[in-house]
Amino acid sequence: MPGIAVIGLQWGDEAKGKIVDILTDQSDVVVRYQGGANAGHTVVFGGEQYKLSLIPSGIFRYDVQSVIAGGVVIDPEALFKEIDSLTARGVRIDKNLMISDRAHLIFPWHKIEDRILDNVNGHEAIGTTMRGIGPCYQDKVSRSLAIRVGDMFKSEFKYRIEYITGMKNRRFDGLVCNLDKSMHLEGLDAELDAKHIIDEYTVYAERMRPYVCDTTNYLLDAVDMDKRILFEGAQGSLLDIDHGTFPFVTSSNSSGVGISSGSGVPPQFIKKILGVVKAYSTRVGGGPFPTEQDNEIGKLIRTRGKEYGTVTKRPRRCGWFDAVAVRYAARLGGVDTISLMLLDVLSGFDILRICTSYNINGRVFDHFPSQTEDLRLAIPNYETLPGWEEDISNVQIYEDLPSNAKYYIQRISELVGKKVEIISVGPDREKTIYINS
Ligand code: GDP
Ligand code: IMO
Ligand code: MG
Repeated sequence: MPGIAVIGLQWGDEAKGKIVDILTDQSDVVVRYQGGANAGHTVVFGGEQYKLSLIPSGIFRYDVQSVIAGGVVIDPEALFKEIDSLTARGVRIDKNLMISDRAHLIFPWHKIEDRILDNVNGHEAIGTTMRGIGPCYQDKVSRSLAIRVGDMFKSEFKYRIEYITGMKNRRFDGLVCNLDKSMHLEGLDAELDAKHIIDEYTVYAERMRPYVCDTTNYLLDAVDMDKRILFEGAQGSLLDIDHGTFPFVTSSNSSGVGISSGSGVPPQFIKKILGVVKAYSTRVGGGPFPTEQDNEIGKLIRTRGKEYGTVTKRPRRCGWFDAVAVRYAARLGGVDTISLMLLDVLSGFDILRICTSYNINGRVFDHFPSQTEDLRLAIPNYETLPGWEEDISNVQIYEDLPSNAKYYIQRISELVGKKVEIISVGPDREKTIYINS
């Protein structure tokens, strides 16, 4: 059975990294196929915490091949920072990492554009991670100013950087002089030095060379050889560029629909899709969030769940579980089963709420609206459930959970329409409950 995929069903940070790390045990290959260093996946084992942005969460097992596929956008600076920090902590990274020659490269101009462009909307900012993700995908789609990993080894590489730097500098001049002075662009140096970038990227190219190959071909061979491939989604389905809460989304297909396009592996080889959800909801950055609790409840969830961005350290917006949104994401992603994460965070609440439908302009909606304006108007209809007092972080088997926790899990499963297969009650690998029935 070659392919298993792990995707987030909310707005990211559902604890995908933990699930991927656990499943790596039963895999030959682990693949990141979209997004970039906007992702922050946390893996905890043996009391040690690791944060991964570009490197697949399978990297901790040396006999498993980690692959960064063509749909990922790669910032070499972030890549080598991550490799160096993992290596310094004893993680071996050499032949067990492959990087696609088709992946697109992030350059300093993308990070500058990210800062400028998220300020030009004139209304609510997307609140991007400022990692240059959107501008890099923009150049990829419009083609003329894009540079891929494979281009680093071609004779025209330096000339391309020089040429694009000139174009981008002129563009920045235009953008910056049109900006409102009140916008937060302090410290932004929108003037690029081509020579400096060429020098930097020439060094990156040589460091990257041993990892670079045609990963699509490698993965198609792996499928032929019946290897077990694990696909690691980044971000969450509601941040999908086509199916999420546009424009408050990321710039890739972060729902289930992106697995094949990003990796090159045809859909029929992906035999199982695991949808990862938190037992509540969080969101970083702007955009509508119907079940948000901008109050003491939200603060309590944030404190207990340590809900601060893995990449940007921003406080995450917190709220109740939204079954309308998750049901949509689960159907869109063709999800087979659910991994319900951070359930331990909900211990100690008298009552818990699950959103079962929305009221929009006086009408009841049980499906997720396609228009952000409608979602912004949505007033959640909640089902109220009894909470539980007990600390559940040491529970190992489902039967030992408090009955109200079991009821909460059951309702989530019924409302989302998918079986819950895994329950997580702590960050560590060991703090995981499997439901086998
Ligand atoms: P990802 O981006 O989807 O991989 O998720 P993040 O790593 O950004 O955020 C998930 C956070 O929750 C991390 O800090 C994890 O260590 C932590 N975590 C994972 N599972 C659990 C759990 O069951 N309980 C608690 N309390 N924390 C968890
Ligand atoms: P993981 O993989 C949560 C959010 C940003 C912003 C929007 C666009 O850790 O779940 P971008 O920099 O991608 O252009 O920002 O998407 N975002 C994430 N939120 N988890 C992530 O990744 C995210 N990656 C991007 O906060 O709202
Ligand atoms: Mg994260």
